[in-house]
Amino acid sequence: MHQMSSRAAGGAALLLLLHCCHIASTRGHKSDSALAVMENTGGGDEEEEVTVEEDEGDLEVVQPTEEWQTLQPGQAVPAGSHVRLNLQTGQREVRLGEEQLKYWTQEHRETEESRPSFSPTELKRAMKKIKEDMNPASKDQQQTFRPLEELKKDMAQLDLLVETDVQIMRRLLESFNSSESTTEQRLSVLMELEYLVHQVDNAQTLCWMGGLQLLLEGLNSSDFRLQQSCAFVLGSAVSSNPLVQVKAVESGALQTLLTMLATAQPLPVTKKVLFAVASLLRNFPYAQRHFLTHGGLQVLSELFRADGGGVLRTRIVTMLYDMISEKELISQAGLDLGLDATHEERLRQYSAVSLQGELREKGWCSLVPQLLESTEHDYREKALRALLAMAPVCLDQYRSDGSLLGSLLSLREQYLEMVQSEMIVGEENGYFGEIVELINALQVKIKR
Ligand SMILES: *[C@@H]1O[C@H](CO)[C@@H](O)[C@H](O)[C@H]1NC(C)=O
Ligand SMILES: *[C@@H]1O[C@H](CO)[C@@H](O)[C@H](O)[C@H]1NC(C)=O
Repeated sequence: MHQMSSRAAGGAALLLLLHCCHIASTRGHKSDSALAVMENTGGGDEEEEVTVEEDEGDLEVVQPTEEWQTLQPGQAVPAGSHVRLNLQTGQREVRLGEEQLKYWTQEHRETEESRPSFSPTELKRAMKKIKEDMNPASKDQQQTFRPLEELKKDMAQLDLLVETDVQIMRRLLESFNSSESTTEQRLSVLMELEYLVHQVDNAQTLCWMGGLQLLLEGLNSSDFRLQQSCAFVLGSAVSSNPLVQVKAVESGALQTLLTMLATAQPLPVTKKVLFAVASLLRNFPYAQRHFLTHGGLQVLSELFRADGGGVLRTRIVTMLYDMISEKELISQAGLDLGLDATHEERLRQYSAVSLQGELREKGWCSLVPQLLESTEHDYREKALRALLAMAPVCLDQYRSDGSLLGSLLSLREQYLEMVQSEMIVGEENGYFGEIVELINALQVKIKR
């Protein structure tokens, strides 16, 4: 029992085990919390108080997959999922978010198969149960009777397992912060961290251990690989994690990220920084408002104009589209769920985000159509969806945009032809048909 070597070996085995747990639980256990941001009336921006409230958990939660699924009224999805409005049917559809999708399809699919039969969350629940059992003041009179020694042993094991999570994080952060670590070592630490912070608890642990500060400093690094990886870890840590989103914004992450977007960076860095910004803004109207008031749309429009290849353009347009439809979904949700106080607060927060007006003001009504010039079907699809979402504020400009009207006509013709050939092959409701319908919907709005 007391031999160091066997303990060390045990530690290694636990480490492996926990890694499996993280894989198993990454998808399911992201919290679905709602955010409520309270403002002191009359106070300046800096005096705002941010609190986080848990949603009541009586919604039916749909587990998104790689395919779009239609959402029924009253159904909820784990935060971080990609939800869109199908503008033809008026229904909401969900699938895994882009980053989740990449994460699952590229790297971790094989390991997912070998998931163990428990997760850290389950372990913690079990431990809580044992602690309750051992608590003589427990109100529950129907306690299961078990020998005390057995309970103690169980608890020691569970404590060890749960502690190990925190221990790993501490070891990683110490190694990252050590002046003796090489860049290569730091990069490998960041890879491990990126993996761990998909778990809600781990991302919060990262915060209270001072990890956010280290990541923000890392964004300032002179090595672009460190900048890229720090942005990646930051983005993953804030994804669907309201507490960490709040901490990150409080630590000035948004300003740092926007400054990076406003200055020339290698493309891989810019991509990850955009990912971090999008994750920070998602479902967080407080951050969205700061983004707007700190010139976020201006920064993005400069990036958009400078991006010839279209990779960044697509990501930017997708991010704007997500923000618009997120706001719409919130107001729609009120119809499904009945109103409660949290919902009203959320509506109030979103109403303070004047996204649509800003989009028009900053020239996006004429920028987004430029993405249609891309040769990628996927990019065009994203552009069409965004154009539809922005239609309420952009219609006048669409109508007088000769090149947009021309693009729509020629794209429609092109995709109709492709639909014809799809039908010959026997796929009637294919992807190209979907694009034709988007174009139709847009043309109807423009003509009206
Ligand atoms: C990093 O190291 C510095 C100086 O050694 C120390 O003050 C700081 O608390 C460390 N940060 C973390 C998160 O470990
Ligand atoms: C990053 O660098 C700038 C300028 O060198 C500095 O003002 C800022 O405080 C740094 N940020 C962090 C988090 O270290």
